Amino acid sequence: MDGVRNIVILTGAGISAESGLRTFRADDGLWEDHRVEDVATPQAFRRDPGLVQRFYDARRENVLAAEPNAAHRALARLDEEWDGELLIVTQNIDDLHERAGAKRVLHMHGQALSAWCLACDARHRWTGTLLDGPGCPACGEVAMRPDIVWFGEMPYEMERIFSALARADLFVSIGTSGAVYPAAGFVQQARSAGARTLELNLDRSQGSQWFDESRLGPASALVPLWVEEVLSE
Ligand code: APR
Repeated sequence: MDGVRNIVILTGAGISAESGLRTFRADDGLWEDHRVEDVATPQAFRRDPGLVQRFYDARRENVLAAEPNAAHRALARLDEEWDGELLIVTQNIDDLHERAGAKRVLHMHGQALSAWCLACDARHRWTGTLLDGPGCPACGEVAMRPDIVWFGEMPYEMERIFSALARADLFVSIGTSGAVYPAAGFVQQARSAGARTLELNLDRSQGSQWFDESRLGPASALVPLWVEEVLSE
């Protein structure tokens, strides 16, 4: 692709929708059944840890039962074959990018399959439940929480994301509504760094006006076509 060496891709819940994982703000979205204030803030965890643990135990089970789709596989192929810089910044807590084979992935909102011990700060790959208060494998304390970035908390690895955006020639956003910052602001940062910007989404998003081009449709159809385009030019 002319003049494109460094690519940053932002993914959201829409890329995993066709793998059976619910998005957040659709009519059947997660935030329809749960109030953010009850399950996705540090205050909620202090107030009712059982409710929060139960919510994420169920999401962890859904992630384990899901399979990558054609969009995840196409990005894994791009990761494999692109010899320029590439960073897949995902807001998703599922591991479908990695299970499809992608390596250059950064989880800015944490991971469902990770538990964080508040006593010794260790993080552990976790596929079981946390509701029953298992002890931390490192320190034994019963002090583990889901390793998820909740509202009001700082997303992970922001420095690494900002420096990749500053070097980007192409910024692509896939399956996100542009409702949540700082992720929703990445397109403007990429633009001000001179990058071309492309959106691949089922519907127009809150940030569509910031993109040079928006292609609307399901990720499983749009992403493989786009990857083929990038790798064949
Ligand atoms: N293919 C492509 N896009 C899709 C598909 C699909 N099959 N299905 C839905 N979408 C699009 C929707 O049009 C919508 O714009 O995905 C987007 C999903 O938006 P949200 O539900 O708001 O999810 P997301 O943008 O990832 O949310 C951002 O908010 O709740 C917090 O921390 C949570 O990471 C999450 C963040």
